[in-house]
Amino acid sequence: MLQDIVWIISLVLMAVVGLGWGFVLLNSGAREENYAPLQQRAYRLRARLFWGLVAVFGVPMVLTLSDLPYDAVRPAQAGGEAQVVDATGYMWRWELSEERIEAGRPVEFRVRSADINHGFAIYDEELKIVAQVQAMPGLTNTLRHTFTRPGTYRVLCLEYCGLGHHNMFAEFTVEERS
Ligand code: CUA
Repeated sequence: MLQDIVWIISLVLMAVVGLGWGFVLLNSGAREENYAPLQQRAYRLRARLFWGLVAVFGVPMVLTLSDLPYDAVRPAQAGGEAQVVDATGYMWRWELSEERIEAGRPVEFRVRSADINHGFAIYDEELKIVAQVQAMPGLTNTLRHTFTRPGTYRVLCLEYCGLGHHNMFAEFTVEERS
């Protein structure tokens, strides 16, 4: 029933889009100087709308571009030498070379996959994503992150990888620096 309704709505919307295309196609031979006044107004409105959208969304977009949900690669890391953690994804589990990580010291995850693509995603105790990178067969992707808060963190898979995808998790703890 619901599917029928959705199907009919889709057909109607497709017909509307089709009519729009047909209208454009039929009028595509007209020269700009021959446009009806209404058409000219519509074009001016469109140009104004375009620049309005650029002004409203363009500036916030540029300002927030660098606000990524993971640490960008930083050549010089504060906090000393990185702790290296090898992370390998399998269908359907993660293998981590370390289960304890020191807070305040950079960590370098070397992420690989033994079979297919997985998504290596680290979540904090509130299940907020902290950092993520793809785990790909035949490649080692490096993910650098410095944990500031001690606690139990979870690694979940962010890429649908088959029946056991939802079971793909691992845990590690971040401990106060001794
Ligand atoms: Cu591995 Cu989803």
